[in-house]
Amino acid sequence: MSKETTIVSQQLSTKEGAFTAEFEWPVTLAIDKGLDGAVTNKSKVGYVDGDKGRLIYQGYPVETLAENANYEEVAYLLIFGKLPNEAEYAEFDSKLKAQRKMPIEVVKIMDIIYDHKHSHPMSLLRTAVSVLGVLQKNVMDTSRENELRMGMHLIASMPTVIAALHRLRLGLKPVEPDITLSHVENFLYMLHGKKPAALDVKLLEISMILHADHGMNASTLTAMATSASLSDLYSSIVGAIGSLKGPLHGGANEVVLQEFLKIKSIAHVTEYVAGKVAKKEKIMGFGHRIYKTYDPRAAVMKKYASKLKEEVEMFKIAEVLDKEVVAKYGSKGIYPNVDFYSGIIYKHLGFETNFFTTIFAAARISGWLARILEYRAENRIFRPRDVYIGEFNKEFVERKKRV
Ligand code: SDX
Repeated sequence: MSKETTIVSQQLSTKEGAFTAEFEWPVTLAIDKGLDGAVTNKSKVGYVDGDKGRLIYQGYPVETLAENANYEEVAYLLIFGKLPNEAEYAEFDSKLKAQRKMPIEVVKIMDIIYDHKHSHPMSLLRTAVSVLGVLQKNVMDTSRENELRMGMHLIASMPTVIAALHRLRLGLKPVEPDITLSHVENFLYMLHGKKPAALDVKLLEISMILHADHGMNASTLTAMATSASLSDLYSSIVGAIGSLKGPLHGGANEVVLQEFLKIKSIAHVTEYVAGKVAKKEKIMGFGHRIYKTYDPRAAVMKKYASKLKEEVEMFKIAEVLDKEVVAKYGSKGIYPNVDFYSGIIYKHLGFETNFFTTIFAAARISGWLARILEYRAENRIFRPRDVYIGEFNKEFVERKKRV
């Protein structure tokens, strides 16, 4: 592992005494790059079992939820800790439906700033969420009731923003949400302007359920660190979207598909892997800080991606690449992660490649919200520390005399 652990006491003892003379350092501190192994809080929201490859939401295996529940039920489960009964579901669902519409100001701003060549959809989504926060009232009220209200507004309206961006990119008019449709049906309806096929609804449903929460990942930590200063929910989600965008995190799904297109056919997979190994480059869609075995979400995605006749050539490339990378790196705990097979499904659903991570964000919003609300109850500002390795007591030299 490339984890760098530096024991500060050892580092200090190699210096010339200046550190210990100036400050009383806690000499047992260790540097764990990327906060590896750090534990931020206790949570009931979800559990990632990295050794056994299990993912649990509020007690339920994610595979069971993906097969049997819809996204609204899973969002409710993450937030409230139980699956909703009929009455609870009806109330939650109608509140979400009532907030699907995107304010006209957001559409106008997106239309003005959208540079079709250069604007990344994740940057636009981040900006749209920020604008939604500007238009909201009482954002600084951090009561559970108010944060839940605003969070449900984001769960409901992020698909509307994404679908509108997709259509603006194609030069089409955004489609108004349809409140007779479920969350996922409506997402696809707003994307293509027609009622979606049952298989497509199932594909997006399982994908959004599998992406809804995942422990203390980078974007969740970003959301929580922002929120813990008692900042507003929209600011926290803007930060989380920014974190998710990176190719080491949610942005990997986009790069994975680009790599499949470069590989072109199964005949080139071996050569591709050898090239990556020779250049010591990471292979996108593989590896995970917590999973040292197959990511359970990748297994479900693979099962569904394998059924898509139109994507069979791309699936074959993925499957061979999966086998070759696991043969090479499996002993190091490198296996496919959630971002490896998801792109094949998103492509099938008609999303452009650079929109893939926006779907991840639209799903993860319920996990971000659930964890922010849970942490609020025992809120404490995040404040880790670093180790100063610079100098002390440098002499100040006037600018004109500086070299
Ligand atoms: C997500 O945290 C979450 O829960 C995230 C997520 C979620 O749902 O929120 O699951 C979503 O972000 C999935 C990950 C998507 N990213 C990628 O697919 C990018 C490629 N993978 C990596 O760069 C990497 O595996 C990370 C970023 C996912 C994890 O990074 P770590 O834990 O910091 O691991 P590391 O980079 O320190 O690597 C450890 C070792 C190294 O080898 P050594 O130097 O010890 O010999 O594993 C090797 C790495 O070289 N390694 C890889 C590899 N990933 C790690 N080798 C080849 N290909 C890879 N993809």
